[in-house]
Amino acid sequence: MDGISFPFWLVVLVICFVLGLIILNHFLPMFLKHGLAPRGTFGWPLLGETLWFLNPHSSNSVGNFLLQHCSRYGKVFKSHLFFSPTIVSCDPELNYFILQNEGKLFQCSYPKPIHGILGQLSMLVAVGETHKRLRNAALSLVSITKSKPEFLHDIERIAIQILDSWKDKPQVIFCEEARKFTFNVIVKQVLGLTPEQPETTKILRDFLTFMRGLVSLPLYIPGTPYARAVKARSRISSTVKAIIEDRRRRRNNNNAEERNNSDFLEILMSVDTLSEDEKVSFVLDSLLGGYETTSVLMAMVVHFLGQSPTALQQLEIEHQKIRSMKQKNEKLNWEDYQRMDFTQNVINEALRYGNVVKFVHRKALKDVKFRDYLIPSGWKVLPVFTAVHLDPSLHANALQFHPWRWESQDQTCKKFTPFGGGSRCCPGSELAKVEVAFFLHHLVHNFRWRNEEEDQPVAYPYVEFPKGLVLNVEFCPDDVEKKHH
Ligand code: HEM
Repeated sequence: MDGISFPFWLVVLVICFVLGLIILNHFLPMFLKHGLAPRGTFGWPLLGETLWFLNPHSSNSVGNFLLQHCSRYGKVFKSHLFFSPTIVSCDPELNYFILQNEGKLFQCSYPKPIHGILGQLSMLVAVGETHKRLRNAALSLVSITKSKPEFLHDIERIAIQILDSWKDKPQVIFCEEARKFTFNVIVKQVLGLTPEQPETTKILRDFLTFMRGLVSLPLYIPGTPYARAVKARSRISSTVKAIIEDRRRRRNNNNAEERNNSDFLEILMSVDTLSEDEKVSFVLDSLLGGYETTSVLMAMVVHFLGQSPTALQQLEIEHQKIRSMKQKNEKLNWEDYQRMDFTQNVINEALRYGNVVKFVHRKALKDVKFRDYLIPSGWKVLPVFTAVHLDPSLHANALQFHPWRWESQDQTCKKFTPFGGGSRCCPGSELAKVEVAFFLHHLVHNFRWRNEEEDQPVAYPYVEFPKGLVLNVEFCPDDVEKKHH
């Protein structure tokens, strides 16, 4: 009996000791910096307030957690999220300060399991010199390809292809169609692949597994979504390497068509500041950054326009005007895009009101004093964009979709940061906007649509329409002309 009870008590002692450590580790930071850090609570040991913070809510609202915490503690408060003491900021000045001081006072800090899937060479997790090198390559690639007419033609052709497939359908699941569109665009832009090529299907299949892993429990046990995602990443990596290799071989064989080809991949291959693995990571970053975000934005635009007939009508007139200045079937160009002023306002408003990205992850590299409070070194810092975008003291009628506000409001301001800011600002922002604008051009010109049932964008915090935004669609190509003449 004694022989049994001794180890039992030892086990209890060890458990108590570990629990004590966890509790101490959880609450100690709170007391050490007591009075200096902003007000707030740490919640439960280990989990803190994470589950409450992640509680889904409509993406055009701030959600209960922020509502209650901001009213109790103010726009900047402390909490315990993602296993770390955290400062949450809903203040535009502090958010701006955080984003502008990337690498100096703060640093990008996504949860460790995400590193496991993305790999250390991903621009989204890389820091310091590696990040700078990857980012410079991305920016120069974007600026070279952006102005090329083929780049715009590809986007338009893919939009027309998708919309053509709607002609005989009474109903579409818009989010699926939008994903098809943005995936085909990004795969064409980056790898030069068309939807019909077998590699495209293969990459899509692996990429979906990869995405599922990003929002799953980080357990590396064979068969779990997380483990499958890590494997899918390595398969995509092999496929991309094979594509690069094939392109290189054909170029070396002096294939004239290849030499004239000046897509992303061709330019990427000639960048000598990136290793082979970094180039593969770059392709993955583009897929990851440009696929889901842009398709969600498209769905939001269509959803909000459906609730705002006046905005939809003004949009139709704008696109009708652009069409009337062109020959039948003439392709859109960069000048046309720049003429789409109201479309830009609609896109900006969908970004503000719909909030594709709710917040970004940072950590403090040293003790940082901001106004009266201290942000302690090593703490997580979350600038929350949604809270700023929907703050009625910053945007008049903040909880209404009102694209006209952008006629007089500067879109490059501290209170509007849908693409982040500072040295990590999204390099794909313009690409995303052109995609949405060109798709809308052909959508409003050829179709009428109506929501089949109530659906809305929900922040999980990644944003999704739970029912996929089912639309009843009607093909009526000349309707806009008749209506507005
Ligand atoms: C509506 C569409 C999009 C939204 C709302 C969006 C939003 C964002 C945000 C908020 C960040 C900053 C992340 C941070 O600071 O931690 C970011 C970074 C990034 N985005 Fe986008 N994005 C969009 C489209 C795209 C597209 C089309 C691409 C690629 C072609 C792309 C590629 C990237 C990359 C590579 C980064 C990392 C940049 C860095 O760390 O330096 N994004 N995006």
